[in-house]
Amino acid sequence: MKFVVAIDGPAAAGKGTLSRAVAERFGFAHLDTGALYRATAARVLAQGGDPADARAAAAAARALDPADLDRLDLRAAPVAEGASRVAAVPAVRAALLDFQRAFAAREGGAVLDGRDIGTVICPEADVKLFVTASPEVRAARRSAEIGQPYAEALAALRRRDARDAGRADAPMAAAPDAVLLDTSDLAIADAVALATALIDQKLTQARAPKAP
Ligand code: DC
Repeated sequence: MKFVVAIDGPAAAGKGTLSRAVAERFGFAHLDTGALYRATAARVLAQGGDPADARAAAAAARALDPADLDRLDLRAAPVAEGASRVAAVPAVRAALLDFQRAFAAREGGAVLDGRDIGTVICPEADVKLFVTASPEVRAARRSAEIGQPYAEALAALRRRDARDAGRADAPMAAAPDAVLLDTSDLAIADAVALATALIDQKLTQARAPKAP
């Protein structure tokens, strides 16, 4: 059976942790789509290029290799900033589209997390979540995760949020039918419990025999 869970939201809102937990709980495959943009930026940066250079970014996206997703520098701050820049290039998004849609179409269920999954990549997803949290809470999490000073992490997140939500092509946005989950004051276990209950309900509906 095909079943797609789309999880969107800004950086450090808890999408990754939530997606991995949900994928494990239901035995679904998981794709962190941000890693595709990060790997594209890492390729450009490794060649001494500028992630904002549309030609270089598009060439890097087309040349992506599965091994690029295992690069050790994907979580580094310059790669995150570069990812947000390459993500604003329409030719980059176009180059990464088919791979994401094919992943979502696999048998056995898939969880994809990103910025435009519920709006552009999988508008027909069975479950859509938009996970958010205040910039201050997200900056504190990011600072602890990668050891970046808090003020720097906050400024970088605000810059990225503005670019990701403000671009013309597939901007970060909650789909009208997405369920909003604010994790500012919500423990991850509680967020997972809410998401699990929602998916359980949709799975039951999807498996129910159709009326003749
Ligand atoms: O989720 P992340 O922080 O790893 O994403 C890195 C950047 O990639 C983010 O700033 C915007 C971009 N991105 C995107 O434009 N669309 C997606 N589906 C996922 C990520």
